[in-house]
Amino acid sequence: MEQVLSTLRQQQPKHLETLLELLRMPSVSTDPSRKGDVQVTAEYLKRHLEQIGLEQVTLHATKGHPIVTAEFCHQPEKPTVLIYGHYDVQPSDPDHEWITPAFEPDIREGRIYARGSSDDKGQFFTHICALEAYFASGTELPVNVKVLLEGEEEIGSPNLAPFLEAHRDWASCDMVLVSDTSMYGEDQPSITVGLRGLAYMEIFVKSPNRDLHSGVFGGAVPNPANVLAEIISKLRTPDGKIQIPGFYDDVLELTADEKAAVDALPFDTKEYKKAIDIKGFTGEMEYSVLERVSSRPTLDVNGLWSGYQGEGAKTVLPAKAGAKVSMRLVPNQDPNKIAALFINYVKQIAPENVEVEVREHHGGWPVVIDLNFEGIQAAARAFEKVYGKEAYFTREGGSIPIIADFKRILGADSVLMGFGLTKDGLHSPNESFSIRDFHRGAEVSATFLGLLAEV
Ligand code: BES
Ligand code: MN
Ligand code: MN
Repeated sequence: MEQVLSTLRQQQPKHLETLLELLRMPSVSTDPSRKGDVQVTAEYLKRHLEQIGLEQVTLHATKGHPIVTAEFCHQPEKPTVLIYGHYDVQPSDPDHEWITPAFEPDIREGRIYARGSSDDKGQFFTHICALEAYFASGTELPVNVKVLLEGEEEIGSPNLAPFLEAHRDWASCDMVLVSDTSMYGEDQPSITVGLRGLAYMEIFVKSPNRDLHSGVFGGAVPNPANVLAEIISKLRTPDGKIQIPGFYDDVLELTADEKAAVDALPFDTKEYKKAIDIKGFTGEMEYSVLERVSSRPTLDVNGLWSGYQGEGAKTVLPAKAGAKVSMRLVPNQDPNKIAALFINYVKQIAPENVEVEVREHHGGWPVVIDLNFEGIQAAARAFEKVYGKEAYFTREGGSIPIIADFKRILGADSVLMGFGLTKDGLHSPNESFSIRDFHRGAEVSATFLGLLAEV
């Protein structure tokens, strides 16, 4: 193991260089004009995986963006780990808010600023670096490893579950290893044991056949923007109770032990407020802030459009209005059932004098990880060795839809070994990732693979 870790340290400058190269590629999965860039990124990764010594490196075309797979399986007696990551990124907008351009990685105060630095290129690449160090140091890889990199996580992984169904044998494994979550705090590693699910909806309200003069027509003609606001106000009460009938039916409350574990985590609400500049909190006051952002279901408007958006005023009665609304789900809520309840409820509260349409976007199941499998123990020990601190076990509010599918299709539990921080600014302008955590992450990964072979 020492041999691998010292090779890792020698290779640090090279690993950083390659990551920066990867970050220069604008692999924005949602943007059709970036399709070529996503493809180029996948091809680059394929070449890189071949170069470091992985085998059976393959680029699989899908209906959307490609999936890259590789493997190194020469330990029939040892466990098999499937390393999963996503090389696609979120759009960089609003671009003018970036201090340096999103796809021209810049290093400032030990952090790499670039879209995808933390979510997820910098994170999944830690494992690739660990593998490279094993191969380069001439140390036998102690377990079997399969690598699965997709380019569609940020759009809900529409083609990955079908891929797993079609390649069950190839993908079979004892556990999945994922770095696409956050640590609890700086220098405080954590293993994520719960993720929220997602149901993402869009509401469209249409009324007159064109935009109208709001003085000439306002008063008797229904205004889609007003109607939309009324609909939205009926979805959730100010104290965070979602008003959709049946919404809470399947929600599992935390057990007393789980609640105690959340309460035991250090959490400074003042610091939290300061970091994002908010005046106060919202939601279910009977739950702690930490519970509200990780273990409770939510409903949030993610986008809202109607009427005149330009500078100054325009007296217009808009013809259309729309809202993107997402709900974060917790065990055991079913995203399909929740989407159906949402559609029914909106149809029911919609007034008859306008046209209301509801569309469903992507969704995903919530996840809870069973703490009693060897991967979790090995991950905890690996974190402790590298960070010198015991890892916390935490639930996180974000979603990684494919994790539930790994369990459903492959029967495999996941080790969610995040190296990011809340302050990394995922999906925000000036996303960043700590270089130190990038390198420590690779050490945790290498150590983890070594420990797994011992159990
Ligand atoms: N890596 C994130 C999810 C995440 C972030 C989990 C932080 C835990 C902590 C992932 O790339 C992501 O952004 N997922 C989306 C869902 C997807 C269907 C668009 C999300 O959570 O909004
Ligand atoms: Mn991610
Ligand atoms: Mn993301």
